[in-house]
Amino acid sequence: MQPFFSQDAKVQTPNCSAWFPLGKALTDFNHGHSQGKLLTKSDIEGDRFVSVASFYTGPSQFTPLSLAMIKSCVGIVADLGAGSGSHSLFLQSKGYKVYGFDISFDCVEVMKARGVKNASQIDIMKEPLPQKFDSILICMNGLGIAGSIKGLDTLLFHLTESLNDGGRIICDSTDISYVKSMPAQKTTLPRLKNKNLGEVNYQMIYEDYIGEIFPWLYIDDKTLRKTCSNFQLKMLPIAREDESTAYIITKEK
Ligand SMILES: C[S@@+](CC[C@H](N)C(=O)[O-])C[C@H]1O[C@@H](n2cnc3c(N)ncnc32)[C@H](O)[C@@H]1O
Repeated sequence: MQPFFSQDAKVQTPNCSAWFPLGKALTDFNHGHSQGKLLTKSDIEGDRFVSVASFYTGPSQFTPLSLAMIKSCVGIVADLGAGSGSHSLFLQSKGYKVYGFDISFDCVEVMKARGVKNASQIDIMKEPLPQKFDSILICMNGLGIAGSIKGLDTLLFHLTESLNDGGRIICDSTDISYVKSMPAQKTTLPRLKNKNLGEVNYQMIYEDYIGEIFPWLYIDDKTLRKTCSNFQLKMLPIAREDESTAYIITKEK
C-alpha cells in the first residue's frame, strides 16, 4: 500500500491484517469489555473513534436505511460482511434462513458465539459465495468492500455469480461529494492526487493492533448505475438517508 502515500506520510506501521482490529474489538465487546473504541484513520476524514457498541445494535436501533434493506430480503439470505452478525440474528429470529459471511475469522467466531447458525469466512473480492442465494445483504456502506471503481467490477461479478435466478443484491453506499466543500481534515493518511473522490484509504487501530491500510469505496448513484448497466444489472434506489442510499440490484431480464 505504501506507494499510495506521499513520502512524508506518518503512517503507523501495521502489525496485522486490515480487518483484524475490528475482529478483536468485536470479540472483546462480546466478552463484556464494553469500553472498546476503534480508531479509524482515513485520507479523507480526520482520525475518528468509532464505538464498538454500534456494531451490536438491536432492531430498535437499526437505521431507517438498514431497516429498508432488511425488509427487502426474500428467500435464503447471505449477510455479507456481517461483522458481529446483528442483522443475521434479526433475520434468523424472523424465520429466515441466513448465512453470515465475513473476511475476519474473529467476526465469524463472534457470529457463532452470538447464535448465528451459519457463519463462515470468505474474501468476496477473491471468490463468489460457496452457494447461491435469493438475497445478498451488504449493510453499512457494503459496496465499500470493492475498494475502488475497478474493484466494483470484481465485486459485482462475484455477487451476481452467487445469486439464484431472480435473486437480488441489497446494498447501500454514500455519495461523499459534500467533502469537497469541507475544510481540509487533519489526517495522518495523506491523499494521493488524481484519485477518484470516493476511493478512500482507511486504517483501523484497536489497542495494540494496527491494521494494514485498505481501500474503501464510496460510490454515487450515477457511477453505480453506469457500472451496473455494464453488467446488465438493474439498480433500484429503495431508501435515502442524508447522503446515503440503499439499493436493490437485480439482473436485467
Ligand atoms: C463496515 S463493516 C459492516 C459490518 C456489518 N455489516 C454491520 O452493518 O454492522 C464491514 C464488514 O465487512 C467485512 N469485510 C471487509 N472486506 C471483506 C471482504 N473482502 N469479504 C468479506 N467481508 C469483508 C469486514 O470484516 C466488516 O465486518
